[in-house]
Amino acid sequence: MTYPWKDYGGRTSPLKLAVFVALFVPALWVGIAFASNMLGPRPLNEAIHQLGLWTIRLIFLALAVTPLRHILQWSRLLVVRRMIGVAAFAYAIGHLGLYAADQAFDLAKIATEIALRIYLTIGFAAVVGLAALAATSTDGMIRRLGARPWQRLHRLVYAIGLLAVVHFCMQSKLDLWEPTIMAGLYAWLMLYRLLARPVGARSRLSLLGVAMLGIGVAVLTASGEAAYFRLAYGADPMLVIAANWSLATGVRPAVVVLGLTEAVAVAGVLRRLVTLPVRRRPRFA
Ligand code: HEM
Repeated sequence: MTYPWKDYGGRTSPLKLAVFVALFVPALWVGIAFASNMLGPRPLNEAIHQLGLWTIRLIFLALAVTPLRHILQWSRLLVVRRMIGVAAFAYAIGHLGLYAADQAFDLAKIATEIALRIYLTIGFAAVVGLAALAATSTDGMIRRLGARPWQRLHRLVYAIGLLAVVHFCMQSKLDLWEPTIMAGLYAWLMLYRLLARPVGARSRLSLLGVAMLGIGVAVLTASGEAAYFRLAYGADPMLVIAANWSLATGVRPAVVVLGLTEAVAVAGVLRRLVTLPVRRRPRFA
């Protein structure tokens, strides 16, 4: 019997064990909050929302493994990608299951709603995609399919990420704060892959490139937000852009995207400083 927290040598991997335990925490929290009436006046609806949020976050975490292992020079991070992906599928099933419970398990109604409401159709397509990836995630399936076809199939996760962002944006009636952040981060995750490929033999993007990408994606996020407010409410785009420099309307999504992506670039710099031989480390004083 192979346990998810063991490495291929049969030893317990502290990294795998920590991630394995952490993946249960959001579900446990939602379960406990639900049981103790801490989820507000519509607990089932709130639980659907919480599991939906964690599904998209986990899909993004799985997508972040490749850039992070390059930028942080932490190749072992790869050992937790499968676990995170399978957890995203489990949370998606929980999200769908709670939605079914909310509809009193009326399968005919659920099927009609999924067929007629475009945001549900998109969410359902994402779950079907995740199911295909989870079903082919075992070592046996990788061997059976062959490495190349398996890799090609698993590129489906890029489309699943996009479907998840669109579903998230479409179901948000008023507050598009977190969906806009997720759209910005999705752009970063995809553009990193696009840009990292042709740079050098090891297909890495330089840390300066990572920092510039963060700025570019933040500008893209701010422009997207301004375009949305223009189309939806006729707001002056310059006013929406200017809001990024003030805290009057809270921290804007573009600022959060900039903070997160630049934090990754800074972590990359710190990692290089730690691994540099002592005599080559730059002096700051
Ligand atoms: C991978 C697939 C999916 C992801 C990543 C996902 C993600 C999300 C997210 C992030 C939210 C918003 C949470 C919030 O704003 O607090 C949400 C809401 C919701 N999702 Fe999904 N979802 C997926 C699939 C589905 C499916 C298959 C269904 C049902 C057929 C579904 C039904 C809903 C419903 C009913 C809501 C709440 C809408 C409302 O309150 O008006 N989702 N989902």
